[in-house]
Amino acid sequence: MKNWEDGKPDKKLFYKRMNAVITFLEKRVDIAKLNALEVFGRAGDWHTIVYANRVKSLQVWGIDKKWKNILKKNLPNAKIKILDSIKTIVENLEPSKFDLIVIDNPMNTWGTKKEPDFYCEHFDFIKHIGNIIDKEAILIFNINKNPFGYDKFPEWKKRREKFYERKRTSKLSLRFLILFYKKLFLMIGYKTIFQKIFKRNEYMDYFVFFLRKN
Ligand SMILES: C[S@@+](CC[C@H](N)C(=O)[O-])C[C@H]1O[C@@H](n2cnc3c(N)ncnc32)[C@H](O)[C@@H]1O
Repeated sequence: MKNWEDGKPDKKLFYKRMNAVITFLEKRVDIAKLNALEVFGRAGDWHTIVYANRVKSLQVWGIDKKWKNILKKNLPNAKIKILDSIKTIVENLEPSKFDLIVIDNPMNTWGTKKEPDFYCEHFDFIKHIGNIIDKEAILIFNINKNPFGYDKFPEWKKRREKFYERKRTSKLSLRFLILFYKKLFLMIGYKTIFQKIFKRNEYMDYFVFFLRKN
């Protein structure tokens, strides 16, 4: 598994891309009234800082306490919680509901558990996202339509094939992905009011879905 913290993300590019997402949303929704959650915080300086002061409130979750003080410094108005985001969502441990949920999960397979209990992308909790939404919410999440070095990661491949119910998952079309997620959200009781895709980098896109309880 590649450690995302070892990589050198292009912070300027991430900032620019998230700014495009938030600017798009600001034309359609009153962002300043939204209670937001960053599900995987790290230091908050890749893209959380873009919207932190444009929303009504912000919670930032992260599993690793080493980021707590840095998060407080980078996002002074946010409520920081050190917890396991997957466990919190799946076991419905968080009483608050959120209007804007940003899911910046690691790519590939990840987590401290071993095969076959490792996590993969957002696959292990996305179906439980209704636990932290009231009537409607905007989700922003990472989609990898064309994974890099895919042949070197048979477990990642296996998990993607199972999740997307497809034999070939190395190049997924946007059309397939939009329909797939619309169907998945309908299955958990939410219809899509609008969706929009923003390129994040060469491999990843931000998928933006405005969901309303059916
Ligand atoms: C891609 S980074 C997030 C970057 C961040 N959104 C930003 O803008 O700077 C993913 C983060 O998820 C955290 N993480 C990994 N497993 C987690 C879990 N089970 N619960 C909460 N956070 C977790 C890692 O510590 C890592 O910092």
